[in-house]
Amino acid sequence: MDLQFEISRRLSREHQEVTSLLTRLAKLMQSYRMENMPDWQGPEARRVLSDLKGALRTEVPNHFAIEEQELFPLYSGEGGADMVELLLDDHQVILDLVEEIRPLVEKALDSPDGLTRGEWEGFRAKCNAFVTELCSHAEKEEFGFVPAIDELLDPAAAKRIFNRYLLM
Ligand SMILES: [Fe+2]
Ligand SMILES: [Fe+2]
Repeated sequence: MDLQFEISRRLSREHQEVTSLLTRLAKLMQSYRMENMPDWQGPEARRVLSDLKGALRTEVPNHFAIEEQELFPLYSGEGGADMVELLLDDHQVILDLVEEIRPLVEKALDSPDGLTRGEWEGFRAKCNAFVTELCSHAEKEEFGFVPAIDELLDPAAAKRIFNRYLLM
């Protein structure tokens, strides 16, 4: 997809990056069943969880914020109102999962014993839901919303929004 503005290219690249992180997370979840927990000190689990921690802390919230504050209003006013409703509902579901998963990721990384079995069961279920919800959301935006806003933006607005995003 050829996008003309930096802000739309940036969002699109982040959709691809988060999808690849979610694929790694799904693989980690699949390779450990309910009854056998990951080795929390193992390099494979730590790499995925460290990247996930960064995504939950800053990348996902900032990405959602610039969409909600700058781009959804534009899209909504130009015929995308129904889609924006759906996308906002997705954001809420995903941000609720972020709040639940984040403390468990931090505990898995920071405590010498990782998660308890009970925490692991909850973590695994929440991560699987997070993968499903965010993959489907990113794909929905990638094929509708991103190309649409790239058409709707003018160069001055695109530059202002991109600069604002860089400061988030
Ligand atoms: Fe979004
Ligand atoms: Fe997005």
